[in-house]
Amino acid sequence: MGDADNLAGIIRERAGAAPVRLGLVLGSGLGHMAEAVAGVAIDYADLPGFPHAGVAGHAPKLVIGDLEGVRIAVFGGRAHYYETGRADAMRLPLETLRALGAEALILTNAAGSLRSDIPPGALMLLSDHIDFSGRNPLIGEPSPDRFVPLADAYDPGLRAAMRAAAEAEGVALPEGVYAWFSGPSFETPAEIRAVGILGADAVGMSTVPEVILARFLGLRVAAVSNMTNMAAGLSDESLSHAHTIATAPQGAAKLERVLRRFLRDMA
Ligand code: HPA
Repeated sequence: MGDADNLAGIIRERAGAAPVRLGLVLGSGLGHMAEAVAGVAIDYADLPGFPHAGVAGHAPKLVIGDLEGVRIAVFGGRAHYYETGRADAMRLPLETLRALGAEALILTNAAGSLRSDIPPGALMLLSDHIDFSGRNPLIGEPSPDRFVPLADAYDPGLRAAMRAAAEAEGVALPEGVYAWFSGPSFETPAEIRAVGILGADAVGMSTVPEVILARFLGLRVAAVSNMTNMAAGLSDESLSHAHTIATAPQGAAKLERVLRRFLRDMA
């Protein structure tokens, strides 16, 4: 934790010493939410060891400040496995979050839907995941804590609070299972049929390694997918990152309302 403690020190010097209550990772097309936070923005480039999260639609800044009365750390970009071949690319940022005092992590992502009743523009709360990439961010971790239990990885209490916030906002927030594919290529229609049979409701290229790391670090986790498309083969649309970014604002507006209400309720 040495590096994370140093980074937490750098962050406290710039943003103040009050402990952060939770972390929020913004997925593709959701980066603008960081601007809503009254606080201090720090470029990842000023935080040694932080990833260069350079995907279009991701703003690589950490913002520490208040949103709806709760002190949070907003990660305006994440590093994906497909950028580096490292599933633990978000380890140091999450260790730093822990060192800042946070006890919970809210993850958001753009995803492809396998469910016609959760169409593009709709949100899904993750109830569980399938690590279809077969990668694990804890490979090589020596501590016995590496054997992280992942039943209820998506915290039942946080999920209930998120569902209540969505209901209060009149936003549909069905729960479902997210399957992690490594990317960066999109899935094939056959892969989508396969994970559908295996129980997936959504697919994406992120989140799962962060959930495993967060549970390893003792952070409670909730995660929300913003559906930007039907998964490969389930519609006539051709998939692209540009399409993901163009479609993300539909769900993003709803997600911002749900997250604000969630924070207000915990303030
Ligand atoms: N597959 C993987 N990742 C995604 C998708 C998808 O269909 N849509 C947005 N991110």
